[in-house]
Amino acid sequence: MEQTQTDKKTVLSFVQASGTPTLGNYLGAFKNWHEMAAENDCIFGVADLHALTVRSQPADLRRRSIEMYAMLLALGLDPEKNIIFLQSHVQEHAVLAWVLDCYTQFGEAARMTQFKDKSARHADNVNVGLFTYPVLMAADILIYKADKVPVGDDQKQHLELARNIAERFNGIYGDVFTVPEPYIGKRGAKILSLQEPEKKMSKSDPNAKSFISLTDPNDVIAKKIKSAVTDSEARVYFGGEEKKGINNLMTIYACCTGMDFAAIEAQFAGKGYGDFKAAVADAVVAEIEPLRTEYERILADKAYVEACAKAGAQKAQYLAQKTLRKVMKKVGFYQI
Ligand code: TYM
Repeated sequence: MEQTQTDKKTVLSFVQASGTPTLGNYLGAFKNWHEMAAENDCIFGVADLHALTVRSQPADLRRRSIEMYAMLLALGLDPEKNIIFLQSHVQEHAVLAWVLDCYTQFGEAARMTQFKDKSARHADNVNVGLFTYPVLMAADILIYKADKVPVGDDQKQHLELARNIAERFNGIYGDVFTVPEPYIGKRGAKILSLQEPEKKMSKSDPNAKSFISLTDPNDVIAKKIKSAVTDSEARVYFGGEEKKGINNLMTIYACCTGMDFAAIEAQFAGKGYGDFKAAVADAVVAEIEPLRTEYERILADKAYVEACAKAGAQKAQYLAQKTLRKVMKKVGFYQI
C-alpha cells in the first residue's frame, strides 16, 4: 500500500492485547473498522507495547497478542488488502514515541483522564509507561499518516492529544504529519458495564459478569444479560440517569439489530424486562456466534495467523521507516 499514490483515505486503529475483546470493543470499534475497510486503505494493529503498562506473565501477553490478532482476522478484515500487524514487530513506533515525548508537555499528558483512572486502579504500579501511553498512541497514528481513526468514546481525548502533537510538530518543521480525525460511531461508542452501568464495559474488569467477551458461549452471554443491572420500573424506554442499565441494553440491542429506540420501545410496550433481556441475548448471540466460530477456526491454524502477522509487519515497517527517516532528519539527527 503506497500512501501517496492513492486518493483513498488511510484509516488506522489498534486494540490493546490486554484480554479477550468485549462486546464494547466490537460495537464501539471493530464493527466500524469492518465497514470502513471496504473503501479505505486500512491499518489495524494489536497494541502489545501498550499492554506492557499493566504487569502480566510473559506467556499470557504472548498468547493474548496472537489471539487478538486472530480475532481481527475473524472479523473479516482482509490481511492482503489491509495491513494487520503486531505493534512490537515494528520497532519504529517506539523510536517515534521517544521523539514525540520531547514535543509533549508534562501538563498535557497529566490531564489524560485514562491515566488518572488507571493510576488510581493500579496504585501499586503507576509506571512511566502508563503516563506516556498516549504519546505512543500518537506515534502509532502519526507514523502512518492516518487520516481517520475509528475509536470508541474513551479514546477521544487521546486522539485530541495526537492532533495537538502533530500540529505542534508541523508548526516547527513543516508538513511532516497528517493531523488525524477521530471517527466515533453515532451509536455504540460507549457500551457500559452490565453490573455498574456508570462505568464503561472493559475487558480488564475483575468482575466477569460486567462484560460480554467475544469468546463467551451462548449460554454465558444469556446469563450475563439476564443478570444485568436495571431498575424497578419494569418499562422498556430510553430514559435519563435512572435508566442507565436499560439505556445500555437498548443501545446494545439497537447496534445488533439496526433498530432505532422508538421501534424497540414499540416492540416491548407492555412487556417486562424478562422478555426484553431474552431478546437482547438472542440479538447478541446472533451477532457474536458466527464471529466466535470463525475465530476458533482461524486460531487453530497458527501457521496461517503467524504468516499473516509477519507479512503485515513487513508492509507496516516499510511505511513506518519512511516517516521516521523524515522525522529524524527534521529534528537534526546526524545523517550519513
Ligand atoms: P482498547 O484496547 O481499550 O479498545 C479498543 C477499541 O475499543 C473501543 N472500546 C469501546 N467502545 C465502546 N464501548 C466500550 N465499552 C469500549 N471499550 C473499548 C476503544 O475506544 C478502542 O477504539 N489505546 C487504545 C489502543 C491503541 C490505539 C492506538 C487506538 C493503541 N494505539 C492508535 C487507536 C489508534 C486502547 O487501549 O484501546
